[in-house]
Amino acid sequence: MTFTLKGMDKMDDKARMSEFLNFVKIQVDDEKDPLALMSNISAFIMSCTRKLNWAGFYLLKDGQLVLGPFQGLPACTRLSLDKGVCAKAFNDKKITKVDDVHEFADHIACDSASESELVIPLFRDGKVYGVLDLDSPEKNRFTDLEVKTFDQLARLIEKFL
Ligand code: SME
Repeated sequence: MTFTLKGMDKMDDKARMSEFLNFVKIQVDDEKDPLALMSNISAFIMSCTRKLNWAGFYLLKDGQLVLGPFQGLPACTRLSLDKGVCAKAFNDKKITKVDDVHEFADHIACDSASESELVIPLFRDGKVYGVLDLDSPEKNRFTDLEVKTFDQLARLIEKFL
């Protein structure tokens, strides 16, 4: 794989987001195994995004969102579809950005350090089958550019998971 993390922390947001998408394109060209892809992509997001404390996947199984590959502290293994930010993004079929998780009535705090959260639904044949979840220890953390880029990232990988 021709990819390096070196120097990404010094890039401005636009360059870093563009590098993100390049990495993801290389990954999906290189490897189609869902576990391998989700593992590397969560590690990549975590190591190259400023101020994140958790990044990972939840996938629909038996009517619940079940924990997939992630980086961060151990998290809830199963989320019901009637509570929390992930469930909201899943049910609404929309990117859900919460600038202050303490203002979100039924936010599920897997890590008490989380202050803001971004959840991106993953689609197959028009149906949501999982989410990519990012948590930050800073309020109002996610920029419009990041939301757009992580959405593009999800669209690139969702057909392989
Ligand atoms: N905060 C999420 C739960 C998952 S953890 O953040 C990893 C939610 O409210 O659904």
